[in-house]
Amino acid sequence: MKTVSIHASRQYEVRIEAGLLDRAGALLRSLSRAETACVVSGEHVNALYGDRLQRSLVQAGFRVLRFVHPSGEQYKNLETYGKLLDFLARKGLGRSDLLISLGGGVTGDLTGFAAATYQRGMDYVQIPTSLLAMVDSSVGGKTAVDLPAGKNLAGCFWQPLAVLCDPALLQTLPEEELRCGAAEVVKYAILRDVALFETLEREGLAAAGAESTIFRCVSIKRDLVEEDEFDRGSRRLLNLGHSFGHAVELCSAYALCHGQAVSVGMVMAARAAAKQGICPPETAERICALLRALGLPTECTWPADALLQAMLRDKKRRGSSLPLILPEALGRCRVEEAPLSALGDWLRLGGAI
Ligand code: GLY
Repeated sequence: MKTVSIHASRQYEVRIEAGLLDRAGALLRSLSRAETACVVSGEHVNALYGDRLQRSLVQAGFRVLRFVHPSGEQYKNLETYGKLLDFLARKGLGRSDLLISLGGGVTGDLTGFAAATYQRGMDYVQIPTSLLAMVDSSVGGKTAVDLPAGKNLAGCFWQPLAVLCDPALLQTLPEEELRCGAAEVVKYAILRDVALFETLEREGLAAAGAESTIFRCVSIKRDLVEEDEFDRGSRRLLNLGHSFGHAVELCSAYALCHGQAVSVGMVMAARAAAKQGICPPETAERICALLRALGLPTECTWPADALLQAMLRDKKRRGSSLPLILPEALGRCRVEEAPLSALGDWLRLGGAI
């Protein structure tokens, strides 16, 4: 088993090993004295893995409840959040009990926000089932639900008690979702790991979901979360491809999934950086070629004006500027505070039409 220890406002471990799901009960019993564990999952994941997790928890002496929400980003909203809180209250859960997220980013964000706010805060555990959640969203304590006005607009920082990452669960992940998670893996490689970038170039998608890759991405995330837990400094590097990408996601009316939009966003950031002399043109070309080889989209087919309107609503906006993350080289990126008046130019440099 590989373990990454995170020293944030709470100290916890990310454990990575194939087969962990069936040992989750015993592991969590050693960390928590909760009587009741409530497992939160989407319909699909519940059907695949809910019974296995329940068996393991019951064997370890937990009373188990299950809350199942409809699958999909559109259900990461106040209504599902309210239903989950009502469920916990009706079943009599106390703050010493435990929530367990079994699922991808939607379930993890929702469960974390419920845990942070139910009775002013209770423990929760992340058991990620998608590659995106394994390498990114399950670690670092960002929790949220979406509002009609935008994604992740209601949320807080609330670190989990533990993250149990079982790469064997990726075997049932649709290939399309694996590709989306691979975009986040490429993000980590561009940020801080040239060797990982080269491995992905050589070995493709199979390398993206490997245990060693997950460990490397989580280790980079650990470093950034420990440097800047509350996202005011270097943690913002994790938004590489996301400012352009969120705008692309919105303009595509969510026809592109998050990872696909981030892929287009990373290429835009790299092309814009190359045109401004911030990185060599070959860096942008290699980033684009790798993403294409992983089956991800790389071309922006949306007009700069429409993208600009979406970017102006970005919650990362600070007064009259928006931080853009730009590659300087493979393995090194920087935060550029872009004045809002210059965003249109950045978008065009990135390839917007
Ligand atoms: N997913 C970006 C972060 O956790 O900061």
